[in-house]
Amino acid sequence: MSKLHIIDHPLILHKLSIIRDKNTGVKEFRELVSEVASLMCYEATRDLETEEVEVETPVATAKVRQLAGKKLAIVPVLRAGLGMVDGMLQLIPSAKVGHIGLYRDPETLEPVEYYCKMPNDIASRNVIIVDPMLATGGSASAAISFIKSRYGCKNIKLMNLIAAPEGVERVQADHPDVDIYTAALDERLNDHGYIVPGLGDAGDRIFGTK
Ligand code: PRP
Ligand code: URA
Repeated sequence: MSKLHIIDHPLILHKLSIIRDKNTGVKEFRELVSEVASLMCYEATRDLETEEVEVETPVATAKVRQLAGKKLAIVPVLRAGLGMVDGMLQLIPSAKVGHIGLYRDPETLEPVEYYCKMPNDIASRNVIIVDPMLATGGSASAAISFIKSRYGCKNIKLMNLIAAPEGVERVQADHPDVDIYTAALDERLNDHGYIVPGLGDAGDRIFGTK
């Protein structure tokens, strides 16, 4: 069974409280989503491998540790996942970025794929899929299935700002190898598949389309 990591650092909780507020405007919403993604990235990369190297300080030779092992790829689920990319890249500037476009059919709530472009070497990278919302889990599960089956990715994590229990269960059932990182586990979904209390439509709030 995959692990659910709830990253409830006080700074993240504070920023998330402003993100949730319906009176928060597009500019601030966008900035805060990026900041929270950056803070979450710090925690989600805690298990990256390091190796010992030597550097010359002005005083002596020091044995220190640097990142080693597999390189990273960030894969935002379009559209809303785009809002998390810059924040992630602030911490891991050399990560490559793949894009997967999925939208939820408003009637069936099923994900429909409309775009996909991955780095050539994605199969050998540690992949972090980012999307602010994990609601039914349909989009996340489809995105994970897709990059597993089409590209052979094996080391995948999922990062969301807010998750519903239904979405967590779905991803854990479909992909027991994929750990989930979220800043909040909310109560439930409403009849339209929106997370309650959630933050509304993440894509619309990031891009100002409503
Ligand atoms: C939202 C969100 C997720 C999806 C979550 O995207 O960003 O991708 O819904 O819902 P699910 O867990 O029930 O699949 P949406 O379909 O609204 O598209 P958008 O990002 O283009 O606004
Ligand atoms: N997508 C969103 O943007 N918000 C939700 O609450 C659920 C799905």
